[in-house]
Amino acid sequence: MDYSTDFQIKELLHQQTYLSNGELKSWKGKKDEVYSTISSSEEYKPTLLGSVPHMDEATAVEVLDFACDAYGKGQGIWPTMKVADRIECMEKFVSLMKPKRAEVVKLLMWEIGKSLPDSEKEFDRTIEYINDTIEDYKQLDRNSAKFSKRDGVNAHIRRGPLGVVLCLGPYNYPLNETFALLIPALIMGNTVIFKPAKHGVLLISPLLEAFRDSFPKGAVNVIYGRGREVAAPIMKSGRIDVLALIGNSKSAIALQDQHPHKNRLRLVLGLEAKNPAIILPDADLDLTIDECISGTLSFNGQRCTALKIIYIHEDIQEEFNKRFAARVDTLKLGNPWEEGAKLTPLPEPDKPQYIQDLIKDAQEKGASILNKKGGEITDNFIFPAVLFPVTHEMRVYKEEQFGPVIPLKPFNDIQELLNEISNSNYGQQISLFGSDINELAPLIDTLVNLVCRVNLNSSCQRGPDVFPFTGRKDSAVGTLSVHDALRSFSIRTFVASKDNAYNNEILKKLLESKTSNFVSTEYIL
Ligand code: G3H
Repeated sequence: MDYSTDFQIKELLHQQTYLSNGELKSWKGKKDEVYSTISSSEEYKPTLLGSVPHMDEATAVEVLDFACDAYGKGQGIWPTMKVADRIECMEKFVSLMKPKRAEVVKLLMWEIGKSLPDSEKEFDRTIEYINDTIEDYKQLDRNSAKFSKRDGVNAHIRRGPLGVVLCLGPYNYPLNETFALLIPALIMGNTVIFKPAKHGVLLISPLLEAFRDSFPKGAVNVIYGRGREVAAPIMKSGRIDVLALIGNSKSAIALQDQHPHKNRLRLVLGLEAKNPAIILPDADLDLTIDECISGTLSFNGQRCTALKIIYIHEDIQEEFNKRFAARVDTLKLGNPWEEGAKLTPLPEPDKPQYIQDLIKDAQEKGASILNKKGGEITDNFIFPAVLFPVTHEMRVYKEEQFGPVIPLKPFNDIQELLNEISNSNYGQQISLFGSDINELAPLIDTLVNLVCRVNLNSSCQRGPDVFPFTGRKDSAVGTLSVHDALRSFSIRTFVASKDNAYNNEILKKLLESKTSNFVSTEYIL
């Protein structure tokens, strides 16, 4: 491992404040230390990065009060503000966020072990997401800057906010995925309470002042602490209108269960997945192997969109298995800033052991490790094992491994395989490798009803972020994309009036005087 770099931790980051009601309030209570699983010395030792507030229930509920006040049951400054003014706040935020790139990227590497190019990509992709969201909102506003008439009724239809949003993101994309919830929620006029993920929490610190300085007080609030101590009481209050979470269904259900008025609670959830690859006998193996390597092992397989099981046709399994296993062993393991490092330390200290348990279980039930380095374990990593043949009794078949282990399952009857996939609890995406259109066509026609994105000769992925990101069954609630997220965090609301001279005169005056922020046919260019 290479330690002599510009990316050394020179000073600790002790986050002593939280963002509430437009102020960075000082936290005097308990703190949680933040460690990286990356060692700063040859002799392995987790590295202390700093600390964050361990907030309590009372403070969390106080923050909730401020978020509710800022929403003002729909009467607050932020939800009633002109679209153009909300956009201006968001533009200011992006301009303040951009100079923080280096700080955030460095923390992404240390906190979650993401490689330098991928950490930079996460930051840049987030900036692009915000800019695209602003443009899409302008278009939405342009499309609404008109009246519709039907059956003698004039209607001015727009989208309005839903209320107070509790926003919780995952550790694997602590910036991008969290902001892909928070930004659309905010721009649509909702007020937000955001709690960073357990890993990937300090990287929000450089952005706190930007939040404080860009939005009216209480519109965005940032809290720290354990979910059950801060998020659960917030939900229990019944004052949260939208739960926006990317994580697993267990935590989503636990939080929903706290809410006393379930009919009022809207959900925007990105949950677990076990995306399969199906490799047909006529697949181009060079391309398939490339895609399966990135699909299974980008960010060590810690992506909800990762390929988590590969179904290989028996006719080509011998060649595929040999070549794929050899390729896995060529991947370079290194610290995130090391040139060419494709595999990096795992941020969860107990993950190597968990993956090892999956491997042992599979071996006991008849699978072998196909690659020489597979299963080699260190303090903060376990080298990806290619396991074959995997059967449905094995834990690695059933559990979402979210880490570096690759189950291969042979098949020869495609209908049996389709039945197996349709019985799965997951339904996010699939990768389909092959070239014969007579084979592919009926498969595509079925698979689009089992998942929400069929990737043809390509690995699974969320991006580009303008495309819909969703899932069936246990994999998601609601759809995210730049365009869809604006809809998920808003509701259609409108002003209607009978088409007569009296009403039309009032509408005319409303429009001419520009006294209403809602009734307006002006639009932003
Ligand atoms: O963890 C799930 C992410 O949404 C995956 O995003 O496919 O762009 O890596 P990605």
